[in-house]
Amino acid sequence: MAVLPAAVRPLQPPPGSKIDFGAEIDGVDLENLTDEQFTGIRNALYHYHVVVFKNQQKLSPKAQYELTKRFDPASDNYGHGKTLDAKRSILHPDLKTVPHQPQVQVIGNGFVPSYEGLENVQLRHPHHRTFHRDHIPDEKDYDFTRFYRWHIDAALYDLYPPQVTTLMAVEVPKGRRQTLLYDDGSGETLDVPLGTTAFVSGERMFELLSPEDQEFVRTSKIEYAPHPYIWMSSARSLPTGLGMYSENRELPESELPPIDPTKIMIFPMAWKNPVTGKLALQIHPSAVRRIHCADGTVIDDLERVRDIVYKLQRPAISPPYVYTHDWQDGDMVLFNNRGVLHSVVGAFKPDEVRLFRQCNLAASEPPVGP
Ligand SMILES: [Fe+2]
Repeated sequence: MAVLPAAVRPLQPPPGSKIDFGAEIDGVDLENLTDEQFTGIRNALYHYHVVVFKNQQKLSPKAQYELTKRFDPASDNYGHGKTLDAKRSILHPDLKTVPHQPQVQVIGNGFVPSYEGLENVQLRHPHHRTFHRDHIPDEKDYDFTRFYRWHIDAALYDLYPPQVTTLMAVEVPKGRRQTLLYDDGSGETLDVPLGTTAFVSGERMFELLSPEDQEFVRTSKIEYAPHPYIWMSSARSLPTGLGMYSENRELPESELPPIDPTKIMIFPMAWKNPVTGKLALQIHPSAVRRIHCADGTVIDDLERVRDIVYKLQRPAISPPYVYTHDWQDGDMVLFNNRGVLHSVVGAFKPDEVRLFRQCNLAASEPPVGP
């Protein structure tokens, strides 16, 4: 059966929301997709950016990998390659590799005795206290939470950012809700399902800018720090999870693994949607190092670089623009990693078991600018 337009149902935004992305797709067998069905899914992905398939508990890690790879057949390695092996990387504790399908990672919370060849694994949901400079006091931690870290799934050194990420909920704790605090003086808050994944649209982020800022974004490039997840490992996040404080805590180059200058990534600020041609403001805010301007000047002052990026991105993470997925067992979410930013949210108790599978692949081509 083809993915007919009728099988693609746009998500209904809750009252007060201005979300203009997200859709659910019914009636396809992800384990056995025809080319026609895949084309329908791909079209839906680039129109809706976040696509949800329900009741996919039985989907194998192999099928998840193959679905992910179909968006970029020349890709094959996990999006972070082997960089996660570096113990100093801030990503290292969060992911466990499926032994028989190494492009697929298990993430979550709590103790899992056995799953897909992994035995006795202790999963740990990232908590904002490990990344943010100032955190919510322990006694309020049950009721309140933060965006952990807004990001694109990408190594940002040596490897190109994946086209898509697939994220599947195998097991989810039955939901209570939390209040997410922005804690940036705006007074903004957001009611969220426990352990949600938050998404914002990079296209909306671009649309919200003034014409002058849009021109700046269209013509400027971002340079990322080499080995960014080691480089930033001692730095601390802003309360919105949208980038870092500048306190000179980043590791000096002498303390990083060897740097090959040809592997440093410089990307356009705006990435073009391969189906609709729309531009998305796509910047990984905590890994930025320099801005290359249209006239050839380079902004090298890290605090200033972060300040500029923050002002461009902050409007689009306000509550009306954030989609918070309410995970159910078996949900498979496919997202356009080159058209959205996303963040882990929430804090679990140690005995709340959450088991997810994630797959993305370092892309064969860099993102395309305007
Ligand atoms: Fe991610």
